[in-house]
Amino acid sequence: MIKNIAIIGMGKMGEAIVQGLKQSSSGIHYQITGTTRTEESAADARTRLQIDCHTDNAKAIKNAELVILAVKPHQVEKILRDNQLSQKQLLVSICAAVTTEQLSEWSGSKASIIRTMPNTPCLIKSGVTAICKGPRCSEEQLHSVEKIFGELGEVTVLEESLFDGVTGLSGCGPAYIYLMIESLSEAGVKVGISRKQATLLAAQTMMGAAKMVLERGEHPAALKDEVTTPAGCTVDGLMALEEGRLRVTLIKAVLAATARSKKMGKKA
Ligand SMILES: NC(=O)c1ccc[n+]([C@@H]2O[C@H](COP(=O)([O-])OP(=O)(O)OC[C@H]3O[C@@H](n4cnc5c(N)ncnc54)[C@H](OP(=O)(O)O)[C@@H]3O)[C@@H](O)[C@H]2O)c1
Repeated sequence: MIKNIAIIGMGKMGEAIVQGLKQSSSGIHYQITGTTRTEESAADARTRLQIDCHTDNAKAIKNAELVILAVKPHQVEKILRDNQLSQKQLLVSICAAVTTEQLSEWSGSKASIIRTMPNTPCLIKSGVTAICKGPRCSEEQLHSVEKIFGELGEVTVLEESLFDGVTGLSGCGPAYIYLMIESLSEAGVKVGISRKQATLLAAQTMMGAAKMVLERGEHPAALKDEVTTPAGCTVDGLMALEEGRLRVTLIKAVLAATARSKKMGKKA
C-alpha cells in the first residue's frame, strides 16, 4: 500500500490532489510532501494545506514511494534528469503532452511509470482522470493510482495513444463548459433575470443534465427528445443552436486543443 507521496509542483492541480487525499474516504492516511519553485509558494502551501512543502525536489523525491509530477510540461525533463528515480519508486505524471517513454528515459529507466490526465474539478472531488500504464508498471500499482485519483472524482483507464484527445476533451473541457454557463447566464440577464439567479439556473441545469446522462446511461439524444415537446419552445431553441453550428463548433474546439497537445508533445 502506497502511503509516502511527493508532489512536485503545488499549483492548481497539485493542490487539488492534496485536497482529495487529505479527505480520503478510504481512511488511508497519506504522508504528503509538496515542492514548489519558490519559497513564497511553498510557505503559502504549508499555511493553507497544512502539509510539508519546500523547494528541495531532490529530498522530496528521494524519500517518496510515489512521485507525482504536477509542474508545467516544459519543466519535467530537467527535474527528472536532475533527480533519477530507483526501481522501487513509482512515477505518476499529470503533465499534458509528456509521454510515458519520455518520463521513463528522463527518470533513469528504472522506476515504474504511469501517465494521467485529470481536470480542475478534481479540486471539489468532481473531476475525471484518464490514466494509462507505462514501462514497468504492475496491475497493483495501476490500482493504487486509480484509488488515489478516485478520491478526486471518476477515473477511466485508456490507451496512451488517446491522451492528446483526452487533454482536448476533459482536460481543457471545463473551460468550454464555463463559457457555455457564462453565455446561458448572460441570456438570463437579457430576459430580465438577476445575474446571480441566471448563473444558478444555468449552472444547475448544466449539472443536472450531465447527471441525467451519467446516471440514466441513455444516449444524450434520447434525453434531448424528452425535453422537446412537439411544437413546444425547446425545438425553437435547438434550431437556433443548429443555426449557430454549436455541435461542429464544440467538435472543432476539442480537435484544436488535441492538435495543440500533439504539437506540445513534439516539442517536449
Ligand atoms: N490546469 C489544468 O486544468 C490542468 C488539467 C490537467 C493537467 N494539467 C497539467 O498539470 C500540470 C500543472 O498545471 P497547473 O495548472 O497546476 O500549473 P500551475 O498552477 O502553474 O503550477 C505549477 C507549479 O509547479 C511549481 N514548479 C515550477 N517549477 C518547479 C520546479 N522546478 N520544482 C518544483 N516545483 C516547480 C510551481 O511553483 P511556483 O509557484 O513556486 O512557481 C507551481 O507550484 C501541467 O503540466 C498541466 O499540463 C493541468
